[in-house]
Amino acid sequence: MSISVNKNPMEFHLFNQKISYIIRVDEETGEVLSCYFGKHIQHKDSYSYLSEKIERPCTTSLVEGNHKSSLEFMRREYPDFGHGDFRTAAFDIHTEVSGSICEFKYVGYNLFKGRKAVQGKPHLRIENEKDAETLEIILVDAVSKVRMILTYLILEESASVVRSVRFVNEGKKPVIIKKAMSFSMDFRDKDYKMLSLSGTWARERHIEKSLLHPGVQSVYSTRGTSGHTFNPFFALMKENAEEYQGEVYGFSLLYSGNFLGLIDVDTFETARVMMGIHPQDFSWKLNTSEEFETPECIMTYSSTGLNDLSQELHKIIMKHIVREEHRQDIRPVLINNWEATYFDFNEEKIIDFAEEAATLGFDLFVLDDGWFEGRNDDTTSLSDWNPDLSKLPEGISGLSRKVKEMGISFGLWFEPEMVSKGTNIFETHPEYLVGHPMRKRTHGRNQYVLDFSNDEVVELVFGMMEKILTESEISYIKWDMNRSITEAWSMNLPAERQGEFYHRYIMGVYKLYEKLIDAFPEVLFESCASGGGRFDPGMLYYAPQTWASDDTDAWERVKIQYGTSVVYPLKTIGTHVSAVPNHQVGRITSLKARNETAYFGSFGYEMDITKMSEEEKNQVRKHILFFKEKRQLIQHGDLYRLLSPFEGNIASWMVLSKDQKEGLVYICQALAIPNAPQIRIKLKGLNEKSKYQVVGSDHWHYGDELMYLGILFNEHYFESADNVQFVLNHDFRTYLLEIKEI
Ligand code: DGJ
Repeated sequence: MSISVNKNPMEFHLFNQKISYIIRVDEETGEVLSCYFGKHIQHKDSYSYLSEKIERPCTTSLVEGNHKSSLEFMRREYPDFGHGDFRTAAFDIHTEVSGSICEFKYVGYNLFKGRKAVQGKPHLRIENEKDAETLEIILVDAVSKVRMILTYLILEESASVVRSVRFVNEGKKPVIIKKAMSFSMDFRDKDYKMLSLSGTWARERHIEKSLLHPGVQSVYSTRGTSGHTFNPFFALMKENAEEYQGEVYGFSLLYSGNFLGLIDVDTFETARVMMGIHPQDFSWKLNTSEEFETPECIMTYSSTGLNDLSQELHKIIMKHIVREEHRQDIRPVLINNWEATYFDFNEEKIIDFAEEAATLGFDLFVLDDGWFEGRNDDTTSLSDWNPDLSKLPEGISGLSRKVKEMGISFGLWFEPEMVSKGTNIFETHPEYLVGHPMRKRTHGRNQYVLDFSNDEVVELVFGMMEKILTESEISYIKWDMNRSITEAWSMNLPAERQGEFYHRYIMGVYKLYEKLIDAFPEVLFESCASGGGRFDPGMLYYAPQTWASDDTDAWERVKIQYGTSVVYPLKTIGTHVSAVPNHQVGRITSLKARNETAYFGSFGYEMDITKMSEEEKNQVRKHILFFKEKRQLIQHGDLYRLLSPFEGNIASWMVLSKDQKEGLVYICQALAIPNAPQIRIKLKGLNEKSKYQVVGSDHWHYGDELMYLGILFNEHYFESADNVQFVLNHDFRTYLLEIKEI
């Protein structure tokens, strides 16, 4: 890894063994230009040929007498608006003297090992200086004296560059930042498919692909959370790129609030790509000497398809985003009471439930919504975090101790950011609610949002949670968030600073996480927002696992988990077995299918195990044992997606240990097909020359056979009890094949 600098003119080449990222400063205009991002190329002492200047008709030009210096045709690294580039701008700064007209020009750069320290927000954790190098490119607007620092971080081992931008007001007057993307970059062509992870409640992160077209295409959230609709991620795949071939670029924003990821294809087929805080309702007043820094965006490249890109992202998330304590840890197999009881429980029921859980082999019992005073449905009590003694006579402290005595840990649900009507905060501190005092407040699930942009509110909620955590034996918290933000107004901010609300809000959420982690470092957090409405790298920085979806139907989960795995490691994905008929889609699938699907994540249950037959309980015991045996492999192995549920009737993936000696292949068919054609599934990642056995089969195969010829759906690989001819003749049938080197 290195950053090479050519000084005349200024050119910067960031590279490691996998990638090169080249930018240069235009001699005439002081503009920073995008030159190249892709597979590693050797360094040269000039890249001037990479910023061609063409004279075109009907344009404007920065330099008098020179018709080739139009910003409209330059490939720019952080473009403004107003000097002849009519495409989407990456930023917009208003000064008192000249409105939105600014001229940021290159003045210098800094290079250093490691990275600068960051406080209070998610960022790439670089524990060892040797792992990364940073380039800062400094531009200044001579009139306002605002400094803009474009930051690039390159890692030794990852095919990624991490970008962000810092604004420092060195002038005498305040300025208003109205838009500040985390990065922008102009690609030289537009021949890509855009891949996004989109959906809604109960069908999060489905894979969508579409060819880029002239004009603007985007993914975004304006909900205050990253949301169910689009994940803060998109990929650009070269037209021929697929899972295991072709060039793919991924852009993943380390942020949990409103975001925008945008591609603007111009008429000369340049694709401008950017991502950052959504400019809708955003503005930030920057007083003299103040700084504003955007969230970081991870830009990743693969020359060998989407799966490789995913593996790069998984590594960066597990090594540089998730807290150190949770990188190699063993995540508990949990059981949550939500779908088993909803709000209808008392201590007796919970004790029975937890006792059963302990005998079946669960590690952790989680008490979900409904444990606090008066919370018998979703209309009430949020923010009154006092245990409901009519349900739980010994409170959470008593219950948690009893559960612990059973030999399993205890976890608790909170929805810290919310308030219901009639609660203490609602009645006595209306100024702590998000919303305008003279305007109607829109409710969501009968609840309102606390103003986390106000430190007093964060402190108050921390105090309430701290009390319960201190009094009780809690090793896990599920942090839920069940509505989008509307009427975004803080009574703690002056009118002209209301544009800061959304960002300050999410910074408040991060602050509460930091305070809780500082006070209770041993607690495992799982984030959640009506299922998977806040599955983003910003959350993973604090909570190393996320509840993926309220939809726990096996086949729906195949799609959700498959899509989620494009960015997120299996270990970060909360996956549960639930009852049938499934509560979201009414589908009936076997216990086997539900378990085998849920294995591929941070595994757990949420169904009433006390009502199961002995036979079913035995099955549950076996599933938990099997998962525990395979937990290391599943949670720390490499993932290979084999067949997409978005493209066919059969989905398949496998995990392989890093030493390529052990694998687990998952196959699920949605609908059975009568007299179907024979199926074969080609494995990935194996050692070509090693001999492998599919556990249970008498035959062995070389790695190359299993990868290039594939596993055939015949009697040699599958359980002998099955009539092979009808091996997949059930709807929602799953198979697990264990592969071992012999
Ligand atoms: C939404 C979550 O996604 C569910 O798992 C559950 O915790 C409910 N909220 C509780 O209200």
